[in-house]
This record gives sequence, structure tokens and C-alpha cells, in this order.
Amino acid sequence: MASRFSLNLLLSLMIGASFFSACKIGVNAEVCTAEKCAMKGINEIVNNKMLQKRSYLGLIVPNAYEMGPLLQSRSFVADPSLPYIDFSGRRFRFGKVENKNVVMVMTGLGMLNAGIVTELLLSLFKVESVLHFGIAGNADSKLHVGDVVIPQYWSHTGLWNWQRYGAGPKDELALESNGDYTRKFGYLNFSDYKTPNKAKNSTRSENLLNNVWYQPEEIFPVDGTPEVRQHAFWVPVDKKYYALAKKLEGMKLEGCVNSTCLQRPPIVVRVARGCSADTFVDNAAYRQFLRSKFNVTPLDMESAAVALVCLQHKTPFITIRALSDLAGGGSAESNEADVFAPLAAVNAVKVLVKFITLLS
Ligand SMILES: *[C@@H]1O[C@H](CO)[C@@H](O)[C@H](O)[C@H]1NC(C)=O
Ligand SMILES: *[C@@H]1O[C@H](CO)[C@@H](O)[C@H](O)[C@H]1NC(C)=O
Ligand SMILES: *[C@@H]1O[C@H](CO)[C@@H](O)[C@H](O)[C@H]1NC(C)=O
Repeated sequence: MASRFSLNLLLSLMIGASFFSACKIGVNAEVCTAEKCAMKGINEIVNNKMLQKRSYLGLIVPNAYEMGPLLQSRSFVADPSLPYIDFSGRRFRFGKVENKNVVMVMTGLGMLNAGIVTELLLSLFKVESVLHFGIAGNADSKLHVGDVVIPQYWSHTGLWNWQRYGAGPKDELALESNGDYTRKFGYLNFSDYKTPNKAKNSTRSENLLNNVWYQPEEIFPVDGTPEVRQHAFWVPVDKKYYALAKKLEGMKLEGCVNSTCLQRPPIVVRVARGCSADTFVDNAAYRQFLRSKFNVTPLDMESAAVALVCLQHKTPFITIRALSDLAGGGSAESNEADVFAPLAAVNAVKVLVKFITLLS
């Protein structure tokens, strides 16, 4: 794959930055601390002939309950000589899925974790492509809980420029003129979300929260000029992977949790867009806003971070997300994820494994 900066370089960077971290190698299971350990971990990785030679599919998953179904399935076979390397508070697991070499890592919740872990994965190991999987809220009323979606584009919709009260779409945003911020991707006007009764009360028709404008991320690609920013809002998944994912449509998925079954058998479908932010959306109005503004289906908290890091590394990636709930748009009294998250997690893994079998 394209530019992968050398581990020796990484090593010197980390020493230079007095990089501190605890590490543990699966085979020796020896615990060590701080600086010494970071050095040891880096050295073990740099000196491991197998890691140098072998390239991997990188599997990235947000949480333990989304990783569990793969670890427990027969599809995942841990590498007997190197089951895992612990580094910087993360566990990188080695093995095979459907006979393909994989390195799998769990990020933890949210954009920061997903970004850090994707960067570590792509910097430490030879990763030919990234397959990201997990569960998501659903913003599309035509799809159901349990369905699995594969969007073509991802965006981080949590980077905002919050406009002062009194200013509107015709007014420049703070720091817009030097290119830090833009009005290109639109905004949310809090006053549009009054409850119907109060709409009649003119003194309440405006909202001091005014508008938030959606901003692209500043990115610094590996083949760009250091410190010269570029911008990215919609990040496409790998074209070939997206085309290949069409073959997943029609596959059979899990439709029941214990004795509770879904209204119809779940489906796999490719969709236009998904978005991520450090926000668990359980709110009908915001769900509807995101759907109508950005035409998104899955709402999650990690995919766009993985996408943005892969974009900067020029590493192909795709995301498979199973819908666990209606993001606040359902009629149920509580979020559907309470019941259906385990079912969705199983379906995401089924589709991931099937996708891996399609890779030649
Ligand atoms: C925000 O929405 C309110 C009510 O819908 C409207 O009166 C106001 O002009 C809008 N403000 C801006 C800045 O778009
Ligand atoms: C309208 O809103 C103001 C300010 O919040 C409040 O004092 C007033 O009672 C409201 N009037 C009605 C009719 O709801
Ligand atoms: C399904 O059954 C398992 C095992 O009995 C239980 O732990 C779990 O809470 C059940 N889930 C639902 C949604 O009823």
C-alpha cells in the first residue's frame, strides 16, 4: 500500500517526544512500566520479522460488546505465536478471519479514541486496508433496527462554529475570512425547534443559542506538506470495496433476540452517507435534521474519525454498521439499543466476515 512511514522513524519520533506508555506482548505476558516499556514495545514491533513481512487487514471496532461476537465466533482464529501486543493502553490482536491475516483493535467510545487508535494501527503495523464495524443509530425511516448499512461517504458532524446571537446566514463567521471556518456546509438554527405551543409566543420565537455551522476537518495527509492544512467534510470509502459490498445485499441475518423478533428479516444495504460526532443522538428532532440536511442513514460516534485518519494515510477503508436503534425517532419509550444492541452487534460481525470472504 501507499506511503507507510518506517517504524524506525516512528521509534525515533517517539523517543524524541519522550513517549510514555505501558506495553505487554502476548507471548511473554510480561508487565512493564512507562518509558522503558514503551521502548521495549516499539523494539519488539520493529524487530519482529513476521510483523515486518506480513501485511494485515486492520479490523477496528468501537466497544467490547461489538468485538465479542467476532472473538467468540469460529471465524476468528488467534495467532498461536503472537496472539496480541498491548501498546499504549490498547490491545492489538493478531489472527486470521476466513484465512486472511488480521490485526484487530478496540478503540473505546468516541472520535478521539477512534482517531488515536486508527493512527496507532496504521503507524505500527503494515495494514493494507481498514475494515471498521459496529452498531449505529438509524436516521432513515425506511430502514429497520437490525439492518446493516454500508455508506459511501462519512462526515464528522460535530465540528461547529457557533454563531453569536443576532448574526445570520449573511454574516461572516468568526475567523471565516482566513479560511479557518466556512458557511459551505450549512447550519442548524435552534429557533426552528420550538415546541408548537410556544411558537405562537413571539418573545420565544428566537433562541439565544442562535446557529451552529458545520465545519470540515483540517487534515494533514502523509503526502502533503507538513503544517499546510487541507480540508475534508465528506470522506468516501474505498471505491472497490464499496462496489464489492453490493454482493452482501441479500445475505441472511439474525432477526430475533431471545423470543423478541424484528418486524421483518433484517437486510444489508449500501447507503449514501453516514455521520459521526461525539454525541449519542436519542432525539427525534436532531435525527430528522441530520437526515434532511445531510441525507445520512447511520449516526455513530467513531466511523468518521477512522475515515479521516485512513484518508490522511491513503489507506483504503470501509465501514459496516448495524442499526441498533432509531436515534430517538421511534415510538418506544426508551432507546431501542437497550434491547437490540446485541443483535445488531452480531449482524455487523456476520456482514464483516462475509465481506472478508469476498476479498480475493
Ligand atoms: C432561525 O429560525 C427562526 C424561526 O424559524 C427564524 O425566525 C430566524 O430568522 C432564523 N434565524 C436565522 C439566523 O436563520
Ligand atoms: C411568552 O414568553 C414569555 C417569556 O418567556 C413569558 O413571560 C410569557 O408568559 C409567554 N406568554 C405566553 C402567552 O405563553
Ligand atoms: C436474552 O437472554 C439472555 C440470556 O438469558 C439475557 O442475558 C438477555 O438479557 C436477554 N435479552 C433480552 C433483550 O431479553
